[in-house]
Amino acid sequence: MNNIPRHVTIIMDGNGRWAKKQGLKRIFGHKAGVEAVRQATEYAAEKGIDYLSLFAFSEENWNRPQDEVMGLMELMVEAIAGETKTLMKNNVRFRVIGDTSKLPDRVKEKISATEEQTAPNKGLCMIVFLSYSGKWDIIQAMERYMKDDTLKNSPVNQEKFESYLSTAGIPDPDLLIRTSGEQRISNYLLWQVAYTEFYFTDVLWPDFSKTDFQKALDVFSSRERRYGKTEEQVNNLK
Ligand code: IPE
Ligand code: IPE
Ligand code: MG
Repeated sequence: MNNIPRHVTIIMDGNGRWAKKQGLKRIFGHKAGVEAVRQATEYAAEKGIDYLSLFAFSEENWNRPQDEVMGLMELMVEAIAGETKTLMKNNVRFRVIGDTSKLPDRVKEKISATEEQTAPNKGLCMIVFLSYSGKWDIIQAMERYMKDDTLKNSPVNQEKFESYLSTAGIPDPDLLIRTSGEQRISNYLLWQVAYTEFYFTDVLWPDFSKTDFQKALDVFSSRERRYGKTEEQVNNLK
């Protein structure tokens, strides 16, 4: 019996090191990373995972050299445009979450068009976190919460607060995978990983195969999630 997570999220790291190893410029690592995204998306759909979310570009990544940032933006446009047909064919819904106001117009336009086109799809929901940071998300939620007059003068309500996070309506990740050997969260989802299982692998993102994905799912299904309860309580509920 395999316990399939409903929402898997991946911090796709190691593109630069992958390129360096082959004596290539960093951008070629990002290009190779797009192929790994295709594989992971296909596999998630095959496995019946409902949500696959991918950390593609952080708020902090804006501080990288300008040519790398521009190259990445160009790659986003190409990848989204190139994949739309496949997304439609595979019934995948595509969404982008993050501070998209900072993105170049061309990227914004491509995103909106693909989000609209794939909105009716009922299969896998693929979420790309772009120009995202966990602290940004919490702050923007707090700002919107404070503007809500219906909530004035009452104690802070957790559910209402969550409804203002950029991930509202999306279940929290069951499993977080980070590639390339780094074991940190890098200001990715903060609030939403309160009870997420973490899986770290040394595999660099462009090398991350369906077999590697399967390994992560196997480890996940062997974990026992207790949510603060005792082992006995959890087993009695089974
Ligand atoms: C992840 O790979 C992709 C992005 C952050 C955009 P990196 O570019 O961080 O690769 P490394 O960590 O330098 O190897
Ligand atoms: C995190 O990777 C962001 C993405 C994968 C998009 P980084 O490579 O930017 O993270 P740090 O800076 O090494 O923590
Ligand atoms: Mg990195």
